[in-house]
Amino acid sequence: MKLVLASDHGGFELKEEIKKHLEEKGHEIVDIGTYSTDSVHYPQYGRKAAEMVAAGEAERGILCCGTGIGISLAANKVKGIRCAVVSDAFSCKMSRAHNDANMLSLGGRVVGVGLALQLVDIWMETEFEGGRHQTRVDMIEG
Ligand code: RB5
Repeated sequence: MKLVLASDHGGFELKEEIKKHLEEKGHEIVDIGTYSTDSVHYPQYGRKAAEMVAAGEAERGILCCGTGIGISLAANKVKGIRCAVVSDAFSCKMSRAHNDANMLSLGGRVVGVGLALQLVDIWMETEFEGGRHQTRVDMIEG
């Protein structure tokens, strides 16, 4: 799958681990930065990645900032984006199965690398269930 990855400085190290993990699994990664731990503004990265997903330039996206929250808020401003911040396996699975989340956001200062990679795997492998959930997802866009 073609995925866009983005982070700010607070999520940079986790983004790098996720990139390596997904590339090892054969996914095509477009990394739009940031590329160091120098301080940057997370809304710029969240929005740009979200616009790529919304435009179909990447099928899905994964974001990282310190908490996962700020960058997800920016992404969710883009029409068609459903970005879920998760730090537990159940919510992560449900974000795909029930919410058809097309972006995942993780906090580099919240989850360790081991848990984060497990969450990424769950999120990549879980299919949207559709049906009544499709009706509700459609209602999100209004
Ligand atoms: C940056 O210090 C931090 O505010 C950011 O990474 C993120 O946690 C915001 O939601």
